[in-house]
Amino acid sequence: MAVPIVRTVSDLRKTVAGWRTEGFTVGLVPTMGALHEGHLSLIRAGLARTDRVIVTLFVNPKQFNNPEDLAAYPRTEGSDATKLAVAGAHLLYAPNAEEIYPEGFSTTVSVAGASEGMEGSFRPGHFEGVATVVAKLFLQSGAGFAFFGEKDFQQLQVVRRMARDLDIPIEVVACPTVREADGLAMSSRNVYLTPAERALAPRLAAILFGAAEKLAAGAEAGPLLAASKDALGRAGFGKVEYIELRSEASLASLTRASEPARLLAAVWLGEVRLIDNVAVAAQPANLVANRPGS
Ligand code: PAF
Repeated sequence: MAVPIVRTVSDLRKTVAGWRTEGFTVGLVPTMGALHEGHLSLIRAGLARTDRVIVTLFVNPKQFNNPEDLAAYPRTEGSDATKLAVAGAHLLYAPNAEEIYPEGFSTTVSVAGASEGMEGSFRPGHFEGVATVVAKLFLQSGAGFAFFGEKDFQQLQVVRRMARDLDIPIEVVACPTVREADGLAMSSRNVYLTPAERALAPRLAAILFGAAEKLAAGAEAGPLLAASKDALGRAGFGKVEYIELRSEASLASLTRASEPARLLAAVWLGEVRLIDNVAVAAQPANLVANRPGS
């Protein structure tokens, strides 16, 4: 059966109000379309946790700092709707730009702290765009749960902070990154990799997982991250924009995995910017306790 599509806030709210009178819980999966297995895993998480799942499809101009990137972003609503029907989503909300940003729209949601550094440094304005549109989607839908991938780990923390700070009554649920069989994190941008780049791309995850293991065993981040950056260069990647160890809870920079952490990176491969991150277990307490000077 085809997935029903609504394009206006008023139709979205009517549908959700009907569900609420039937006592259904509602989940939201915000996307920009070009759906892949990573998105489908968010929908599955939504279906497992809630009675009704709304998928949003909106290529949000405010989060692109490069107009060419916005123009080139894949727009595949027809095939996305087919995938949603197969996955069992209950509603596709695909508003046009005027519905989200009507004439005179003047509000920006800006999240200090979590937005700073990494993506925030290399994509100025990106997280303001994300926080603004996600706040709108949360408020428009009135969903009780929202499902976000850990692939965009900094985005996940920005969205969590925004919902908490604005008292939006929604639980943000984190879902694990979905990887190709060779380890490459799934992304709508992977389709732009040439065959040679696609063959090289999984090295990013391999280098991150290798470094994460050493960090979890007690290695100091500075030299290890420098060595990982060199390894990416030698493997054939272009500019490494960042490779950083951050606290999983607060995103504060860490010099060692003294608490549960994430190793996050953004690198260029030809014309494609890849981001990825992996969990780093906190190093065993005895290593910290026995280190000279600790
Ligand atoms: O992760 C994305 O696809 C987008 O940043 C989001 C959350 C749908 C907001 O436009």
